[in-house]
Amino acid sequence: MGTVEMTKTAAPVESSTETRDALSVVDRRTGKSYELPIQNGTVRAMDLRQIKTGPDDFGLMSYDPAFLNTASCTSRITFIDGEKGILRYRGYPIDVLAEKCTYLEVAYLLLYGELPTEQQYGQWVHDITYHTMIHESLKKLMDAFNYDAHPMGMLISTVAAMSTFYPEARDVHNADGRTKQIHRLIAKMPTIAAFAYKHSMGMPYVYPSNAIDYSANFLTMLFKTPAEDYEPNPTLVRALDVLFILHADHEQNCGTNAMRGIGSAHTDPYSAVAGAASALYGPLHGGANEAVLKMLDRIEKKENIPDFLEGVKKGDERLMGFGHRVYKNYDPRARIIKKYLDDVFAVTGKSPLLEIASELEKRALDDDYFTSRKLYPNVDFYSGLFYEALNLPVSMFPVMFAIGRTSGWIAQWLEMVNDSEQKIARPRQIYTGERERAYVPIDDR
Ligand code: CMC
Repeated sequence: MGTVEMTKTAAPVESSTETRDALSVVDRRTGKSYELPIQNGTVRAMDLRQIKTGPDDFGLMSYDPAFLNTASCTSRITFIDGEKGILRYRGYPIDVLAEKCTYLEVAYLLLYGELPTEQQYGQWVHDITYHTMIHESLKKLMDAFNYDAHPMGMLISTVAAMSTFYPEARDVHNADGRTKQIHRLIAKMPTIAAFAYKHSMGMPYVYPSNAIDYSANFLTMLFKTPAEDYEPNPTLVRALDVLFILHADHEQNCGTNAMRGIGSAHTDPYSAVAGAASALYGPLHGGANEAVLKMLDRIEKKENIPDFLEGVKKGDERLMGFGHRVYKNYDPRARIIKKYLDDVFAVTGKSPLLEIASELEKRALDDDYFTSRKLYPNVDFYSGLFYEALNLPVSMFPVMFAIGRTSGWIAQWLEMVNDSEQKIARPRQIYTGERERAYVPIDDR
């Protein structure tokens, strides 16, 4: 499965002046020199282990809290050039996919590496469509949540509970079984998300319909009531499908790292997706879209922007929806969402928050504090405005992100399961605590 072959070992050398793909290092503690092979611009951390001061030394490790400069896998799924603001899935530029594809087509591409043929697409859409219903007991489980339960907490718990409905999912080495779980996860996430929303609104659930497309079906489950007919607006359906495409994958982000980390223990994919979604829930990750809306609400009017930005610069708060670990340029996803917002607002009416957001962006991009730190709008800066235009409460925003991201999580999981280089993820630590201490009885402490 597409892993890049890496050079196996490094050898201690006397000295080396040769030019080749290797890093020469001298250990000043011992005076010994080593050559570490470089492949794909990377040295292997395990090649450091041979660098020792003596036979009892464990060997050199690399220290990289928060994985700022450590690759944990090879991957053929998503390419990002953060300096240039480039995002591609399986080699296709994100703007081309957003313009020409449906979300399900992109999900297939992420999972299987190629855009589907017409026949493959028809089968794929059929397989997803015919798995959108959820078990009635799962629905009853959702009923048990408190009336004000956060829908993201409901989604996470319900997806985790799915592992108990499909126990065969624990056999992660069964390829046919994996395919079944993939269909179920992509198909049922919107149903669970819509049920979580209806529950939080105190409204009856609307069952999925096989007669309509993925995003139209989701909007219908969200907004139809028994009292009224509901016809999803085609502009909103298309914008939602595009949003799902933009959120589908983003290589080794916090949630995907959780998916791979949990999956590396051969845990079933439902439990792993629940873990990935939990990571996504955080305000520094997929919860940022919720935080952006709250921030825009709090700023209230354009006149308050300068004071707000001063507060950010003093370190009192963060400009949510700005900055990214990888993008040091405009996030291409933010640009695409911004373009779609005009179409959306033409249907729903303009949000007064858009003016504040646009002005905030303009002022921040004019300000040396933000430009010198390469802080630009990220995907979450504008996505919340779209969800708000749909009339969704902010608590639903990370849920919307999770639906789109599910295909990416499972594509990364599938790649990992088939990667012979992967083992259970288990980082090292640098122990800085007390060495061995004598126990002190409670009366003597
Ligand atoms: N507002 C103000 N200052 C910021 C911001 C921000 N949003 N983001 C980074 N900085 C500053 C930070 O204080 C630091 O300044 P200094 O060098 O003076 O200490 C510098 O920029 C570098 O920041 P960092 O925290 O080292 O960067 P990071 O790569 O660890 O963090 C981030 C990336 C996305 C967590 C961060 O930019 C952030 O908190 N942004 C706001 C939350 C947000 O919008 N998250 C969504 C990310 S995109 C979707 C997703 O991944 O789910």
